[in-house]
Amino acid sequence: MNKKICIIASGGDAPGMNACIEGIVNFAPSNFKFFGAIGGYDGLVNDNGIILDRTNTSGISHISGCFLKCGRSEEFTTPEGVQKALATIKRHKFDAVIILGGNGSLSGAMKRLEPNGINVIGIPSTIDNDVFFTKNSLGFSSAFEESVRLVDNLNITMRTNNRDHVVQLMGWYCPDLTNSVGLATFADIIDTFDNRHSHAQIAKIWANNRKEGKQSNLMILQETKGKDIHDEAIHSANYLGDLMRAIATENNIESATSRVRMSTLGHLQRGASPSARDRWLGANYAKKALELINAKQFGVAIGLVGDHFIAVPLSKIMDKIS
Ligand code: F6P
Repeated sequence: MNKKICIIASGGDAPGMNACIEGIVNFAPSNFKFFGAIGGYDGLVNDNGIILDRTNTSGISHISGCFLKCGRSEEFTTPEGVQKALATIKRHKFDAVIILGGNGSLSGAMKRLEPNGINVIGIPSTIDNDVFFTKNSLGFSSAFEESVRLVDNLNITMRTNNRDHVVQLMGWYCPDLTNSVGLATFADIIDTFDNRHSHAQIAKIWANNRKEGKQSNLMILQETKGKDIHDEAIHSANYLGDLMRAIATENNIESATSRVRMSTLGHLQRGASPSARDRWLGANYAKKALELINAKQFGVAIGLVGDHFIAVPLSKIMDKIS
């Protein structure tokens, strides 16, 4: 008997999403039929999608972004939007819905689809790595590699010109990218939401480093988009950079005003080419999703614990950042 599966890529895109979609469609037996919602949950709400088969999903695993397009749906957060999404599922007689997304997207499935009797499987897909029970969500490794490469580029020019540098990374309110990149690039200060440094502390560390002969300081900074407006405002790369300049000027540090530079890597990180690991993860998440469908195990996300891909109830994976 045919099985009809809907695939949705929600939230921000993550390198490796295409690999995962290629895996799901291409590893599936021929009685599986696939529909890809366009632009995240909006595609489900508005019944806007395409048939996915081997013709349009083969050979896309190395391409970044997501060919289904991603999005954050306002409408899906309303009762009317949910009813429209459910109507689409009913109309197409989907046996299951696979959602690729981060914490917010998977919690959308948990709150709005699962309680309405929809068979849901979540695949952690976000550069933020904000899904519990998942060592690496899809996209994290690519964004990590790309960020290190970009910070290396910045570092070389900053060091050459004896400058201090503040670099803000994406990651929403999960510190994993910031901590990993900060360590790998040997940043002098790694500043996360959970481990903020006061402006005085930053000034002191930088001044000490200089006294000890280090001509250039690097600070890696976590964005906290939407979590705490005050924190967000005083921890933007620009704000901190300006402040450090002011402190340096006040303290008569030679050439201080020309010393500090700021960068926000932002979407450059998310547009990274999928790393080999993310393509491998995509293939494995795909295999596991098909295994779960065959076993009729729904209401779960696929976690990665050690080297094992496991099924975790959706309710359990939400804890990481809440
Ligand atoms: O995909 C997650 C994420 O990259 C966060 O790290 C970031 O804050 C956010 O998306 C940015 O999203 P948008 O595409 O809406 O600017």
